[in-house]
Amino acid sequence: MNILELYSGIGGMHLAFEQSGVAGKVNASIEINNIANQIYRLNFPETNLINTNIEGLTSDYIKKLNIDTILMSPPCQPFTRNGLQNDIKDARTASFFRILKLLPDLDVKYLLIENVKGFENSEMRNILIDVLIENDYKYQEFIISPHQIGVPNSRHRYYCLAKKTDFSFETTCLMETFPNIHEHIDCYKIENIIEQNVDFKKYYLSDQILTKYWSVLDICYKNSTRSCCFTKSYGRFVHGTGSVFTEKSEEVILKLVKELNSSNLEEHEKLGLLKSLGLRFFTPREICRLMCFPENFIFPDYVRDRKKYMVLGNSINVKVVAELIKILNG
Ligand SMILES: C[S@@+](CC[C@H](N)C(=O)[O-])C[C@H]1O[C@@H](n2cnc3c(N)ncnc32)[C@H](O)[C@@H]1O
Repeated sequence: MNILELYSGIGGMHLAFEQSGVAGKVNASIEINNIANQIYRLNFPETNLINTNIEGLTSDYIKKLNIDTILMSPPCQPFTRNGLQNDIKDARTASFFRILKLLPDLDVKYLLIENVKGFENSEMRNILIDVLIENDYKYQEFIISPHQIGVPNSRHRYYCLAKKTDFSFETTCLMETFPNIHEHIDCYKIENIIEQNVDFKKYYLSDQILTKYWSVLDICYKNSTRSCCFTKSYGRFVHGTGSVFTEKSEEVILKLVKELNSSNLEEHEKLGLLKSLGLRFFTPREICRLMCFPENFIFPDYVRDRKKYMVLGNSINVKVVAELIKILNG
């Protein structure tokens, strides 16, 4: 595969391609966000990373990049379930339209498109599928999550694989399982991704968060074999943005929560109890691990945790996409 990675962000697709073991190279990547590009450059210094707006691309320009594969995660805000869902009326779909317009002129054999769950019901999805059919692609759509391949993290995402040749399996309507995995896989425990000697002061939940949101927190323990999806707002908001972690056991926490629910505690006593839960955010490295990034993936020193959470929340699960690239190539 000679790859063009569009909307490359911090390079999740690039990592997935490396992890897939498929022969080839990322010939070029395109992304407009400066911080994402600095992180990408640090990790892939050899790659031709182009800082430009995809809306302005031409087929001549892409042809010169010598590619036969496009991997891409277009912006998801137009389709996010708790967003406005303006779909094709959202200006952020303009670059996606641009690629679809150029596609007939390009000699692209393989395509992988990732987006949020919900994209499958969008008008944009119907337009994508029409373009694929008009240009003689075979395609298969999926809604899948890393927990289905043994990773203790839920991240249901829409994927569409398209190629000019037949798939090695019967293509069908939207698949909700991996076609190459037939038995149930147990997820490993969260303790496997926990960093040692984490600076609790840096990652603890503030008094304000504890008091206001303790009842909606999704808590993970060392023994947990699950966690919820980490979004780009992790670390800034707690409700629905990702799980939090405690070294304490589930029994201890449940006992304390029962106490919190039942007793008529003064505010300061309640806060004392909440603090004793020992809750903290997962560190960026731990989230990297849950998203199956390799250990040698690094951030520039000056990038703060909030930014790391943001770019990771925008990225992809590397193992899931690696499996999909193998299927695409198969
Ligand atoms: C869902 S994220 C993709 C993340 C990426 N797959 C990763 O692993 O980090 C979408 C990315 O597209 C970029 N983007 C959005 N519109 C763009 C455009 N018109 N041209 C270039 N990049 C764009 C955003 O800055 C963002 O980083």
